[in-house]
Amino acid sequence: MNPTWVMGYPTGYEEGTFLALDMGGTNLRVCEIILPEEKGEFEIIQSKYRMPEELKTGDSEELWEYIADCLQQFIEYHHEVEDLEILDKIPLGFTFSFPATQEYIDHGVLQRWTKGFDIAGVEGKDVAGQFEAALAKRKLPVKLSALINDTTGTLIASAYTDDATKIGCIFGTGCNAAYMENCGSVPKIAHYNLPPDMPIAINCEYGAFDNEHVVLPRTPYDIIVDNDSPRPGQQAFEKMIAGLYLGELFRLALVDLHQNKGVKIFEGQDISKLHKAYTLDSSFLSMIEEDPFENLSETADLMHKTLNITANKPELELCRRLAELIGTRSARLSACGVAAICKKKNIEACHVGADGSVFNRYPHFKARGAVALREILDWKKGEKDKVDIRPAEDGSGVGAALIAALTIKRVKDGNLVGIKNAKGMS
Ligand code: GLC
Repeated sequence: MNPTWVMGYPTGYEEGTFLALDMGGTNLRVCEIILPEEKGEFEIIQSKYRMPEELKTGDSEELWEYIADCLQQFIEYHHEVEDLEILDKIPLGFTFSFPATQEYIDHGVLQRWTKGFDIAGVEGKDVAGQFEAALAKRKLPVKLSALINDTTGTLIASAYTDDATKIGCIFGTGCNAAYMENCGSVPKIAHYNLPPDMPIAINCEYGAFDNEHVVLPRTPYDIIVDNDSPRPGQQAFEKMIAGLYLGELFRLALVDLHQNKGVKIFEGQDISKLHKAYTLDSSFLSMIEEDPFENLSETADLMHKTLNITANKPELELCRRLAELIGTRSARLSACGVAAICKKKNIEACHVGADGSVFNRYPHFKARGAVALREILDWKKGEKDKVDIRPAEDGSGVGAALIAALTIKRVKDGNLVGIKNAKGMS
């Protein structure tokens, strides 16, 4: 539960030009966002850069150099060189979608890498400082105004266009949510003596729920996924739910069944491809669940193309059922996270802004999650969904820009709590 120093919702009337940098998992994205006068409107231009796989297990120097290079390329492409010299520093919102403890909004110490990242020299360090050092070398006309989490961005971006939004969540490579708390209910910031009813967004980091393994039953496959990950013992909940792991859980179950003499699947076939860890991603399960044919011919093609396995009908049915089980568990556990926030805050009805590849693309995920919410929150039969999880606005782009705008507004209003380098922000 990390306080984020995002002190309230946007009004919808935020204005200005901002840069946003989004380091989430697969890609690095740089955006320029214009918030015009009109309520809840925005314009965005963006470029995506591939996050090289080696970088994810490299060292901090390479990471920040790469990120600063991408940012520089983007700025130079979209602005004339002469502009750059006279330009005031553009405020930047940096979406860093990993757990960071923040004493200030423009600061954040990485607690631990998640989602398979393992870059040396960043854990326990101030990410904002490392990033700013790389910016300074290049003399870029940019001022880091806010370091944010993707969930907080999603909460704020969705609230910008829909004021019924109370929760922002990500169901993608990782899983997590953010919501608005009252300062008086946050023991971690009690020493600031802030007005108890002042709002502050909390990044729950609930991917780390049940790291102690006392609540959720784990399968042998969950245990292998955890043991073989770069951070065993961390992100217990996330490892059962998130997109990064769904395909791997499926693969491990099939390998186990193949080795089980009593079951006899893929008999006499070369399953060497299936032995390679993380060969299947969650889109593999999506495609199986989407196979419209009674004889599962698309699943058969997929098994053949990807794994060089010729599966018979019962084997195909097994694959389909396994994908359904993994996908359903993911959706239902995801709903538990949202329900937990609703219960804690006594929220009876609200909109939840959700983003991420699993939410947006995994078949039946939304419907399965909605059924689970109905069961947990005990809605009457026939009553429509009171907590409605819906596609979010772009949290890591527009959300980051909005949070930069909200921070600058606070500097102008003289509310400097949780802001480190207010100079140059107003
Ligand atoms: C992981 C990260 C978290 C992020 C989530 C979704 O759980 O630890 O910070 O919000 O993935 O991207």
